[in-house]
Amino acid sequence: MKHEKRSTFSGGLGFVLAAAGSAVGLGNIWRFPYLAAKYGGGIFLLVYILLVVTFGFSLMVAENAIGRKTGKSGLCAFGELSKKWGFIGIIATIIPMIIQPYYNVIGGWVVEYSMTYLTGGHSAAAGDTFFTDMLASPLKLLVYQFIFSGITTFVILRGVQKGVEKFSTVLMPILVALAIFISIYSVTLPGAIEGVKYFFIPNFSNFSLQGVLGAMGQMFYSLSLAMGIMIAYGSYLPKDSDLEKNVGRIELFDTGIALLAGLMIVPAVFSFSGGDQSALGKGPSLMFVTLPKVFESMGMSTIIGSMFFILVLLAALTSSISIMEAIVSSLCDKFGWSRRKTTIGVGIGSFVLGIPPILGYSVWDKVTLGGMTILDMMDFITNSVLMPICALLTCIFVAYVIGVNVIHDEVKISSKFKREKLFNIMIKYIAPVFIVAILISSVLEATGVIKF
Ligand code: PHE
Repeated sequence: MKHEKRSTFSGGLGFVLAAAGSAVGLGNIWRFPYLAAKYGGGIFLLVYILLVVTFGFSLMVAENAIGRKTGKSGLCAFGELSKKWGFIGIIATIIPMIIQPYYNVIGGWVVEYSMTYLTGGHSAAAGDTFFTDMLASPLKLLVYQFIFSGITTFVILRGVQKGVEKFSTVLMPILVALAIFISIYSVTLPGAIEGVKYFFIPNFSNFSLQGVLGAMGQMFYSLSLAMGIMIAYGSYLPKDSDLEKNVGRIELFDTGIALLAGLMIVPAVFSFSGGDQSALGKGPSLMFVTLPKVFESMGMSTIIGSMFFILVLLAALTSSISIMEAIVSSLCDKFGWSRRKTTIGVGIGSFVLGIPPILGYSVWDKVTLGGMTILDMMDFITNSVLMPICALLTCIFVAYVIGVNVIHDEVKISSKFKREKLFNIMIKYIAPVFIVAILISSVLEATGVIKF
């Protein structure tokens, strides 16, 4: 079978920015702040950071090394190392295939908010029914989803270096600048300092096991692990680029943006609500419903609101690009298809599969499972079920099928591998136990057996 020559990133920086582009997404800006608020602020932060530098580090090194060693994306990489275990690649590819369509839908919501703010519609966006009205208009959502998925497809069509890498190299610095600017604005609002304290100072009486599990699920999602993305990106990493250091930089980037997002949102909400934290506990609607009200109360809402939603849009786009790249490169590797045709096919496929989650809020709103809408179901099956399974299988594969030495050898081509011992302990023992705990707890929680 004839394969096109494999592309690579131009070097370490291109890789780090592209991988950070994948990692920094809705998870950092929308999910992290409300989880931190829900699970006790500073203490959640502490646990989260500890998990990132141990558990997250080990899995990311493993995935990048598998990709670089085999020169293959998620679907083929596992089979290349051990035929019998090639099925892990199938799970690792199904996950982004389910995530892509609903990520496009949420991306579409962000397009709508950005356009509304840019055209001066800040008061409308702060209205009580703006969000629900939007969800009830499937045609409008379809158009916005088309715009979002169209941009993603366009970038993937341009290829790894000219598309994925270039786009991230330009957008990520803009994203950081916007995040710093908005957080400075937010922490200097009257009464905001109490929010800063709540967010940063750990209060050990707020510690809970659920908080640890929540932090772990978030860490997976936020670092884009267990869905083939980091394997695909590893396969584009030049052999002479320091893999261990690069992973450290990606984590720093991702955690830094999550912290900035917390600093944008938590103090602003404290200031808005006069120190009442319950406004933060609103969960998913925090970003789409509460924040526009906060912006409205602050003045300058056209500017701050536009900047904020453009920031979210950039973050969501660079993530959705990585999801699509993981799918396209897997299919090209497996079937030897041309990148162009595969991209167009995947673009159309994910657009069409995005229609059910859109209709799930209007015409098909009766289609629910345990209170979950179609979009929630797609999110649940990937994040709470398939991703932990894929992560667990990856650990078992590395520790007990191919052996940790295979990863060591690959990492050591370009790095000293200072955290080798930590890596071994995490992959062999600690990570598998923790992953099983997340899997059980999230399934029990969703089925209503336990209530966190
Ligand atoms: N890591 C991204 C975030 O934090 C989420 C993501 C999910 C990215 C799935 C790619 C694929 O939002």
